[in-house]
Amino acid sequence: MVSNTSSFVLLRHLGLLSAAVALVTAATDPCVPGTFSFPSLSGAEGRTITASSFKAYKGNSGWRPEAVHIGAEGVSVCNVTVSYTHPGENDLVNVHIWLPLENYKSRFVGVGGGGWKAGEIGDDMMSMLAYQGYAAAATDAGYNHIPTSLPDSWLLESPGKLAIPLLTNFAHRAAHDMTVISKHIVEKYYNEEPKFSYWNGCSTGGRQGLDLAQRYPEDYDGIWAACPAVSFPALLMSLFWPQVVMNIARVYPSACQFEAVRMAAIEACDELDHVKDGVISRDDLCEFDPETVIGKEFDCQGTKIKISKEVAEIVKAMLQGPVDTEGKQLFPGTSHGTAATGFLSTANTICTGESCTAGRPFPIAADWIRLPLKKDASFDVTKISREEFVQLFHQSVREYNDLIGSNNPDLRGFREAGKKMITWHATNDEAISFKFMRQYYDSVSELDEKNNVDTKSYYRYFEIPGLTHCSAPAGVHYPLYGFDALRRWVEDGVIPTVLDTVLVGERETDEEGVSQAVYPYPSVSIRSGDSFIKYDTKKALDKQEGGKDEL
Ligand SMILES: *[C@@H]1O[C@H](CO)[C@@H](O)[C@H](O)[C@H]1NC(C)=O
Repeated sequence: MVSNTSSFVLLRHLGLLSAAVALVTAATDPCVPGTFSFPSLSGAEGRTITASSFKAYKGNSGWRPEAVHIGAEGVSVCNVTVSYTHPGENDLVNVHIWLPLENYKSRFVGVGGGGWKAGEIGDDMMSMLAYQGYAAAATDAGYNHIPTSLPDSWLLESPGKLAIPLLTNFAHRAAHDMTVISKHIVEKYYNEEPKFSYWNGCSTGGRQGLDLAQRYPEDYDGIWAACPAVSFPALLMSLFWPQVVMNIARVYPSACQFEAVRMAAIEACDELDHVKDGVISRDDLCEFDPETVIGKEFDCQGTKIKISKEVAEIVKAMLQGPVDTEGKQLFPGTSHGTAATGFLSTANTICTGESCTAGRPFPIAADWIRLPLKKDASFDVTKISREEFVQLFHQSVREYNDLIGSNNPDLRGFREAGKKMITWHATNDEAISFKFMRQYYDSVSELDEKNNVDTKSYYRYFEIPGLTHCSAPAGVHYPLYGFDALRRWVEDGVIPTVLDTVLVGERETDEEGVSQAVYPYPSVSIRSGDSFIKYDTKKALDKQEGGKDEL
């Protein structure tokens, strides 16, 4: 907690978190390897266990908004690392389990990964959770992926041969193994099983959360799956789509040009919700056509630039999403107001000043094509034709959807076990369009409907206007306390009818009512003056087709 004021606001938002969750002064065993053991886990064999405590850890990166919850005193835990192998597969997986030395809440949280990482070990979420008194764990899935380098060193066993065991760990196995191992370790230390277990992940971590609900429904009582990389094999091909479009046109717009079109879209659609806040909250009503800005002059750091027809067409193709050679839609596109360039974006280009000569693919998409698809580390992704892209798209789904699609709509096991799940997605996610997630949630709802089940009774999905991938740009409201809403749903039966979002870093100045309530999909929240009204996206679309806009 940064200050008394913010802790007051925090408690208000959490519904008095510390009062609601009885703090247990657990009888702990010593933090030494001898306290711990390897559980029985089919297909796995324990190797080594290390354990020692550390205090005042502050090594987290701070990129996730949740990092504001970590107090200045840092994190103090019993740090247990369990190494194991899948016999015959020659892997060595390390599970890192942090057991709070004080204020343990009798709850365990599995923390997901990001990008190629299966677990964000020691970063913001693990630190925040341990700081708040949760036992928290993350896995390296048997490889040490360094985000700034290529995955070739671990994803290939030998030239041209994929490391299937490690890909399987990344896909789903490591998260489940970690869960079984961690619950056992928690019990050994505190002499009782965790009362509740939760998953917390974004991006890859969100996908792992969905996969756990589908494949291992007993593992978690509550799953927080944010901005999930759902339908991974199709998703990765769609992340490459803007590059194909640019390579075919041989046109490489600069960041300024993309940004000018994006700003024009925001200008056109920002106020569809009657609020001028720089956020398109009604993407479903936004009919902005990039062609309308062709020839318009924009200022690019002091230089006047014009939007060409080619640039407008590239943006249109990104909004449309990948289509095959007959024009048939392969996967949904991106949304208005979403950044085309930047760290997590898909249409980056290589430029000297305003002169751009090549594309810069989203690294994981290029990795995916070179390694799992082409099995050729030196394959040149910049030469992919439209036909080959379509072929690779189909191959990707055919070969890998069962392994890592994480999009099985059948959540019956999860629901029948009484578990709960919340997903939120950023409507301006630069990497993973919220439309992919919407497609998945629709497939779950459709199946549930056939069985007379209301999906919302156990699984709620929230689309949050203006947010970016797992994060919040300045001035956009973020679900900073959402994980606790999941906990209250699981433990106290408090249905998350809305997800509260707040301005990160401005909690001290938050007045009552400044937080924005987001309603679960298919609704969106709209600010009307000082209050918020609920709006049904699907009904709005129906109305639109009838030629009338309900607003
Ligand atoms: C936790 O223990 C592991 C294994 O000994 C070690 O690699 C890691 O650095 C420790 N974490 C911290 C934050 O000290």
